[in-house]
Amino acid sequence: MLGRLNHVAIAVPDLETARARWRDMLGATVSAVSDLPEHGVQVVFVELPNTKIELLGVLGEDSPIAGFLAKNPAGGIHHVCHEVADILEARDRLLAGGARILGDGKPKTGAHGKPVLFLHPKDFDGTLVELEEV
Ligand code: CO
Repeated sequence: MLGRLNHVAIAVPDLETARARWRDMLGATVSAVSDLPEHGVQVVFVELPNTKIELLGVLGEDSPIAGFLAKNPAGGIHHVCHEVADILEARDRLLAGGARILGDGKPKTGAHGKPVLFLHPKDFDGTLVELEEV
């Protein structure tokens, strides 16, 4: 069911500082900062040969990143995203297996304009898992 690792998302307390560090210290190709108001995040994409890193910063009052940073002030790995060919089929298989889908269970449009779902971290060893249809 799972395809490629699409990205690892890292929540950061200061997005511009993190962006400069990945670019200048690690020599990575980084995008400009984009605002995703519907997700309450600002994001920078770090392009790697085999996957991406997404640096996530707080945007707005209800940002999901704010709570994460309150518990992890230095930042940290927020979620991993795997590609799936058919997100509704993947969801139904997961639900049938007893996994929980966050939110209303309907795919939303993710940072790359594709349908995404998030799985409950308690069902996956404390890791928030995103599925993205590609
Ligand atoms: Co993601």
